[in-house]
Amino acid sequence: MKICLSIETSCDDTSIALVDSSGWVHGMVSANQDLQHAPFGGIVPEVAGRNHLENILPLIETLFEKTKINGVTVTSENLEGVAVTNRPGLMGSLIVGIVTAKTLAQAWQKKLIGVNHLEGHILAPFLRDSSYQPHFDWQQPFLALAISGGHTSIYSVQGLGHYEVMGNTLDDAAGEAFDKFGKMLGLGFPGGVKVDHLSRTGDPQKFDFPRSMIKENNFMMSFSGLKASAQRLIESLSSEDIQRYQADLCASFQEAVVDVLLAKLQRAVLQTGIRHVVITGGVSANSRLRQRSLEWAKINKVEMLIPPLRFCTDNAAMIGYAGVLRLERGEVDDLSLAPSPQSYLKDFQGKGR
Ligand code: KG4
Ligand code: ZN
Repeated sequence: MKICLSIETSCDDTSIALVDSSGWVHGMVSANQDLQHAPFGGIVPEVAGRNHLENILPLIETLFEKTKINGVTVTSENLEGVAVTNRPGLMGSLIVGIVTAKTLAQAWQKKLIGVNHLEGHILAPFLRDSSYQPHFDWQQPFLALAISGGHTSIYSVQGLGHYEVMGNTLDDAAGEAFDKFGKMLGLGFPGGVKVDHLSRTGDPQKFDFPRSMIKENNFMMSFSGLKASAQRLIESLSSEDIQRYQADLCASFQEAVVDVLLAKLQRAVLQTGIRHVVITGGVSANSRLRQRSLEWAKINKVEMLIPPLRFCTDNAAMIGYAGVLRLERGEVDDLSLAPSPQSYLKDFQGKGR
C-alpha cells in the first residue's frame, strides 16, 4: 500500500496528512486561521501566507509524532512521495506548501506530485477513516457538486483526471455569498457557518429571495443577484428589525442558495442519467443542504455521498488521495513545479470551464 505525505496551503487552512492509495487517512493535522482573518472581515493573502509559514513545520512534526501504522511510528521511509496543492489558490499561500514539499521530497529522495485543489474536493467523499466509509467508490461515473468559498461547480466525473465541468457560477461562489451575507448582518468572518446555525431557528419562507437562473435549462448558477437583493432588504430594515428577524433572514437566504444548488444538481442527474452523486467543498458542511439533499436523493433513488465535515472543508487528506493515485499511475513532478492561481487548461474538460 503506497502512502503519501500531503500538504494543503491553497487558502487559509494549513493542513498535513498521511493517506494511502485506498483513501485511508492514517493521520491528519490542520491549523485554522479564522481568528487571524476575522478582524479584517475576510481572508488577507499576506496574513495567510505568513501564518502558513509559522504553522507548517510544527504541524508536520506533530503528524509524524502521532501517526502510527500497526503500532509503529511512520517515518519518511514509509513514504511513496509528497503531494502538494499547487493550483488554484492564493500565490503566497501556495508557495509555502510547494517549497516545503519540494524540500522534503529532495531531502528524503521521494517523488513529488502537484495536485489541483478542486480535484482534491472531488475525491474527498471517497476518503475513509475509522469513523467514515463511503458506500460507493469513484471507479464509476458520478456527478460532483463542489461548493466552496472560491468555487461552485457541477462536474461529471468519468475517472481519475476526467472531470467535465457541466456548470459553474457566473459570479460569486456559494460560500462567498454566505460569507458576504453574514458580513452584512454583522456576524463576523467566516459567515457561512454562523448563517447555518442561526437558520436553525428561522423561517425559510419569511423573506422571498431571488433564485437566479433556477429555471434556465443549463447548469450555470449566479449568486450576485441574491447578494444584491439581500443588501437592499437589509438596508430597508431598521436595526431592531434586523435583530428581530436575524434567524428568518438567514434561513430564507440559505433556502434560496440550497434551492438553486439542488435544482441544478437535479437537472444534471436527469440529463446525464448518472445516479451516483457527491456533494463536497466547505459549503457541503451546511446542515440544511445536507438534510435536503439526502431527502432528495432518497426520493429520487440517487446514491448520495456527502463526506463528514473534516473532509468537506479544506484538508490535506483529499490532496494526498489525489496525489497518491496519480503517483500510482506513474505521474510525477520535478523541482520546477510552480504555483498557479488558476487551474491548468488540461485539468478540466467541458463547456462550463
Ligand atoms: O472548501 P473550503 O473550506 O475553502 C475553499 O476552498 O474556499 O470552503 C470554505 C467556505 C466558506 O465560504 C465558508 O463560509 C463555507 O465554506 N462554509 C459554510 C459552512 N461551513 C463552511 N457555508 C454554509 N454553511 C456552513 N455550515
Ligand atoms: Zn477548498
